[in-house]
Amino acid sequence: MIQVKGYDIPQISQGLACVEDELSHAIEEGDDKIRGMLSGLFDGGKRIRPRLVLLSGMCFGEMNEKMIHAAVAAELIHTASLVHDDIIDMSDYRRNNPTINSIFGNHVAVLAGDVLFAKAFEILSEHGLINSMLYFVNAIQNMCSGEIVQSCRRFDISVTEQDYMDYIDKKTASLICASCMAGAQSAGAGSREINLIGSFGYKIGRAFQITDDILDVTGDKKTLGKSVGQDVSEGDISLPFIYMLAKSDNSGRYADAVNKRALDADLKQGMINDAICSGAVDMAQSKARQYVDEAVELLYQLPHSIYRQALIALALDIIGRQF
Ligand code: IPE
Ligand code: IPE
Ligand code: MG
Ligand code: MG
Repeated sequence: MIQVKGYDIPQISQGLACVEDELSHAIEEGDDKIRGMLSGLFDGGKRIRPRLVLLSGMCFGEMNEKMIHAAVAAELIHTASLVHDDIIDMSDYRRNNPTINSIFGNHVAVLAGDVLFAKAFEILSEHGLINSMLYFVNAIQNMCSGEIVQSCRRFDISVTEQDYMDYIDKKTASLICASCMAGAQSAGAGSREINLIGSFGYKIGRAFQITDDILDVTGDKKTLGKSVGQDVSEGDISLPFIYMLAKSDNSGRYADAVNKRALDADLKQGMINDAICSGAVDMAQSKARQYVDEAVELLYQLPHSIYRQALIALALDIIGRQF
């Protein structure tokens, strides 16, 4: 069962129930070993991307089968990217469960992620969702490139806000954008409308990753269902740290330790405390808020509907969330 949110108007709840059925079906196929590995993998996910597919679609037309299939594909692609991300980040906990890499090792986890990607494209091709497939392919290319750039900049204290924005656009906003576009496309929207909802997705996608990076500093493992304090340990200089390093009296010491990969527990805690006390986390929060405001402003170009209102509520929830 997924958690019901305030913006889950009845039509969306019905659509989400179909998405859940199709997701369970998708991993029931295949051999026993793969099934065992993937079982429980979808439990505890927030389903932001399927909701975005459905709500974006319903801004332009009635709920249809194509929207459901596109929403399933979006969640499969997202989950595949999490499985691969956990290998890259050496994470052992996700969605309140041990990760596949922590149980079966990296080798198996790479293949498990690939199985999910393949399943998504089987669904998209089987149902003739060619345009949506292109949006998702484009997003995956961007996601890979964003993760690669981020990995190359690990322990690099010279990462700027612009560098950070470039790679979060690629690794996170691109799939959120593609999800919105796939929903609109499935509803038969025209190219201007598809691009508009895509731009909305991009902006909330940025806000989504900034919030995720703030929660890595301020959040709680139990509530989030994943480990916290990981980014700085892994040398990922996220927005709260970029802002903190520009302000803190201790920046020199932190920069030196990060560059030498010699960040001990005390210094790491110091960086986290300084990110909070210096106002850097608040600044990052304002940035996320700014992108959500810009995103909502774009939606006002669409006719008023309950679906547009629900999309606005979802966009606002992205920055207010605790998990
Ligand atoms: C986590 O995404 C990865 C990021 C892009 C920050 P979600 O926070 O949507 O993860 P689930 O699906 O709810 O587990
Ligand atoms: C990666 O960002 C998000 C993806 C696109 C998979 P993070 O590494 O911050 O995501 P979490 O915190 O592990 O969910
Ligand atoms: Mg990660
Ligand atoms: Mg994170």
